[in-house]
Amino acid sequence: MTVLSKVIAIDGPSASGKGTLALNLANELGWAVLDSGAIYRLIGLLADRLDLLDKEEELIARLRQFNFRFEGGRCYIDDENVTEKIRTEEVGKMASTIATFRELRKAVLELQRGFRRPPGLIADGRDMGTVVFPDADLKIFLEASADARAKRRYNELKNKGFDVTLPLLLDQILERDKRDTERSVAPLIPASDSILIDTSDLSIAGMTKRVLGLVAEKDLV
Ligand code: CDP
Repeated sequence: MTVLSKVIAIDGPSASGKGTLALNLANELGWAVLDSGAIYRLIGLLADRLDLLDKEEELIARLRQFNFRFEGGRCYIDDENVTEKIRTEEVGKMASTIATFRELRKAVLELQRGFRRPPGLIADGRDMGTVVFPDADLKIFLEASADARAKRRYNELKNKGFDVTLPLLLDQILERDKRDTERSVAPLIPASDSILIDTSDLSIAGMTKRVLGLVAEKDLV
């Protein structure tokens, strides 16, 4: 009988702290990370370039002609390094547009499950605990006020040199949250067995410590 490696699923809305928590846990535990948002962002960027943001079938067919690579936190489409390019809110919107495509989501399911390996995987995304890894050993759903999340995204993008404004980012994040929550396929909702953590007033270290406490309680390492 194959024993599947352990998974910690981290779900939650935009800029709730998923990515940061995932990286910290992976460093502490020595586990692999799946940034599922990066997969949707890569596909969103490609869909925009190919003018296929509203053509699911054609998009799925064309995707087979490209090679996606994820290496040490960097992402590539063929030989193009798109790590920074995919982080803008505009690409976030493209990602959430194609993320409503049912067949496309099915097509990337196995790609995402392929990241599962010993000793364990930290899976970051909106449907990790509900759809991709419903058998995850620990499911965390991060929440934070929209204001706190917009400020975080503002600082993150400013630090990367992008020209952004706080009010516009807040609007874009709220619009994306709405689309992600209201879609019929894999909507952004907490899994029934997930543990909700509000990170609005939690430091990164505090949030990481709290989850490491849960990891120890559940005897996952
Ligand atoms: O960093 P942020 O949470 O803002 O976004 P992300 O995780 O990079 O995801 C970008 C978009 O991809 C989201 O708004 C979702 O529409 C979509 N996505 C998804 O549908 N399912 C996932 N597991 C991950 C991302």
